[in-house]
Amino acid sequence: MATLNEYQPKEIFPNLIQTVEKYFFEYNKQEIFKHSCEVAETAKAIAADFNLNPTAAFETGLLHDISGVIPNEKRLQIENALGYTIHPAEKTLPMLLHQKQSSYLAEAYFNISNPATLSAIACHTTLKPSATPFDKCLFIADKIKWDRPQPAPYLTELEAALKNSLDAACIVYLDWLYANDLKIEHPWLKAAKEELIKA
Ligand SMILES: [Fe+2]
Ligand SMILES: [Fe+2]
Repeated sequence: MATLNEYQPKEIFPNLIQTVEKYFFEYNKQEIFKHSCEVAETAKAIAADFNLNPTAAFETGLLHDISGVIPNEKRLQIENALGYTIHPAEKTLPMLLHQKQSSYLAEAYFNISNPATLSAIACHTTLKPSATPFDKCLFIADKIKWDRPQPAPYLTELEAALKNSLDAACIVYLDWLYANDLKIEHPWLKAAKEELIKA
């Protein structure tokens, strides 16, 4: 039975970037480290523009994909061992659990106790109903610096919308996602979209 504590970092340094770098390199996940640094810088810049905490936003970026070291085939076992409810969408596509599992790892082993940081990490893929501006900051940063080789097709429109509001930028991405790339509709995503469209 796979458990979360198999994924404890071997070393914790005073500097979170160094801890995260060593951790990803240990699992040969250099590409996730690069993506995480880019998302961290982007989240910090967005936070500064929207009067949010840039230091905490940087940390959300660094840690949001920390559970990328867990193979997808172990995610359901880990979630069951923790005793948490698993949505049917997460059963079908266990990769969806990576957002919550990154948050558990951040709290358990990376010294993160700020509920706002843990919340943003836990919903960075699907968003969630009543998402805060801080949740949306990481969500948008992750979509601007998406982890695919080609540039994000919605990027110009999203960046223009971001000049108006975080919500407008979220809507650009969600419209693109539903039209082009939705593999399965997670209940948090559905609720977040409905809420944003009504607002
Ligand atoms: Fe992610
Ligand atoms: Fe990401």
